[in-house]
Amino acid sequence: MHTLNEYLNKIETYLKGIEYPSAPAGLYEPIRYTLSGGGKRLRPVLALAACEAFGGDADDAVNQAAGVEMFHNFTLLHDDVMDGADMRRGRPTVHVKWDERTAILSGDAMLTMSQMLMARGCDGSKLAEVYGIANRTAMEIYEGQQWDMDFEERTDVTVDEYLNMIRLKTSVLLGCACALGATMAGVTDKRRDAIYAFGEKLGLAFQLRDDYLDTYGDPIVFGKEIGGDILNDKKTWLLITAMSEDQSGVLSKEIATPSEPSVKIERVRGVYDALGLPQRCVALINRYVDEAIAMLDGAGLTPVAHDFFVALAEDSRSRTH
Ligand code: IPE
Ligand code: IPE
Ligand code: MG
Ligand code: MG
Ligand code: MG
Repeated sequence: MHTLNEYLNKIETYLKGIEYPSAPAGLYEPIRYTLSGGGKRLRPVLALAACEAFGGDADDAVNQAAGVEMFHNFTLLHDDVMDGADMRRGRPTVHVKWDERTAILSGDAMLTMSQMLMARGCDGSKLAEVYGIANRTAMEIYEGQQWDMDFEERTDVTVDEYLNMIRLKTSVLLGCACALGATMAGVTDKRRDAIYAFGEKLGLAFQLRDDYLDTYGDPIVFGKEIGGDILNDKKTWLLITAMSEDQSGVLSKEIATPSEPSVKIERVRGVYDALGLPQRCVALINRYVDEAIAMLDGAGLTPVAHDFFVALAEDSRSRTH
């Protein structure tokens, strides 16, 4: 196993080395802009680490790791259009810096490039499995994103529906990253499925934390605008729980006839605070991190590999960006 920083360096070097045609600049410049904008690179790290954890070399999975990161970044371009989000990674989003049609088309190109990257260095016997996992995951993410938008219009979304929605839009890609690394190492299905389950559980904690930070984060550190979920009536765990417990009528009023943005954010956050939701959300995040760590038992990892994934999971409990 290598260190987290070594995996990060490997993926960063790889992404920097991708050569894009110079024209048309309107297609490729936003891709370069997006991929050079930082990001935690969690998914490719999971892929590289999973490959090594199962006896492969990180280089065996570096193309697939980059492919997953490219895919993730594609989803972000389209997600920011769908969510009307103006800032990401501390910079204007592509649809703001350019325009929506650019974000759509550059996103499309990134989706195709992700498939090209995943096929690199992948022999025929593994390619079907790689594409099988990646394409199933992609369809699940689109389903999750549609539920996420559908839920904006509903007021009766349950916590179970929410959990399934975030499993689809976010968790499965973390599971996919782990599974791709495992596949490139040529591991058994059982151990691959265990590391997938780790990624999937971690993804629930990850999205819960993202939703928490959308209300309680520091915009400079988080790199995204705060309060977007509240303004979009996103049915996060925070809002669903608040709607079932709030007696003040503030939430139904702010959903039916919203105040101006900063006032709405303030009022909704006030309800969350009064109900003690931030602390309860953190407790729920911790529960899913614990569940993720428990999944590692079925993966047959060496102590060093086990500790690597535990450390990653531990970091996600209280991340601020
Ligand atoms: C953002 O993912 C989308 C979610 C699933 C919450 P990340 O928080 O991993 O974004 P970057 O890549 O680090 O910017
Ligand atoms: C992200 O959910 C899910 C995908 C991008 C597929 P969010 O909409 O919460 O992600 P951010 O907060 O914009 O990064
Ligand atoms: Mg979004
Ligand atoms: Mg979204
Ligand atoms: Mg979010």
